[in-house]
Amino acid sequence: MNQSILSTIGNTPLVRLTNVLPDCPLRLFAKLEGFNPGGSAKDRPALHILYEAMGTGAVKAGTVVIESSSGNLGIGLAQACRYLGFRFICVVDPKTTTQNIRILKAYGAEIDLVAEPDPVTGEFLQARINRVQTLLQTIENSFWTNQYANLSNAQAHYLGTMDEIATELDGEIDYLFVSTSTCGTLRGCAEYIRDHHLRTKIFAVDACGSVIFGGKPFKRLIPGHGAARRPELFGADLADECVRVTDLDCVVGCRRLVRSEAILAGGSSGGVLMAVEQVKDRIPRRATCALIFHDRGERYLETIYSDEWVEEHFGDIAHLWQDQWELQPWMMATSRFLEGPKSVRY
Ligand SMILES: Cc1ncc(COP(=O)(O)O)c(C=O)c1O
Repeated sequence: MNQSILSTIGNTPLVRLTNVLPDCPLRLFAKLEGFNPGGSAKDRPALHILYEAMGTGAVKAGTVVIESSSGNLGIGLAQACRYLGFRFICVVDPKTTTQNIRILKAYGAEIDLVAEPDPVTGEFLQARINRVQTLLQTIENSFWTNQYANLSNAQAHYLGTMDEIATELDGEIDYLFVSTSTCGTLRGCAEYIRDHHLRTKIFAVDACGSVIFGGKPFKRLIPGHGAARRPELFGADLADECVRVTDLDCVVGCRRLVRSEAILAGGSSGGVLMAVEQVKDRIPRRATCALIFHDRGERYLETIYSDEWVEEHFGDIAHLWQDQWELQPWMMATSRFLEGPKSVRY
């Protein structure tokens, strides 16, 4: 029995992927972080950061928790703060989706909207950080969770995400594919692998247009992975290799996942899948690969899973997932058994 909603965070399922890359000899396992109660991997750092800060006294009765987040961490913090009884101010910008603002408000978070980008950098990210600094100076007993620099962010994945994957696969993981933004997941997993002497090599999956692994920033459509500045949690030695994925990769990967595995996952998960596709011919046959799927797909219904949105941004690309997946013989058999062959349409 769970003591509270917060004790349901973690222990997410690890699921074998057998259909999505039909001719691929790799053993693929997906860690479905969307099963966390707030809908993403970020529930873990949200709770761990708060617990650690409560342990040191940095967060105590009456503390106002502040974070700049337009998505998953904000929702994770809103959930944890609601349960633990802290006021939470979430600094967002106009790019934050209406749905996320509604979710944040439903949990009782206060929304602080930064309407203009930073005049120096032209970036909303910097403008949001500036706003956080102002709030910290003006609100007594306030605490910034600071996801880009807080080691407790990474520790949550060391103690949770990676430990769960390693335990379930008996440490026998050849490759880990993990998408990056704050680099909390990457750092936590990499440090676990190093400390436990696992043979696992890490492919970090970053967005084209993100600057984490170098390069110039440019506009991206899909939120979640990627960052417009290099986070303090980044380290050049954390990943063995970086694979970059485009917005189009994320769309195609997500559509393939739901079509072939019935997994409705968020944008970065599609990117992670397409990163495997990019490198699969360089990986030894039968290698065991763990893929972290950071969130689930419901928050992308108006974008990735909207045919109109996809057509508007990428044109007519449905063949990229429709041709890829063939009906498997065993499915034909099952479908026939259940419904009769004529009633099954794909
Ligand atoms: C959907 C999604 N994927 C990937 C990431 C990257 O995780 P991290 O911040 O630990 O690097 C995030 C982070 O917010 C995310 O929301």
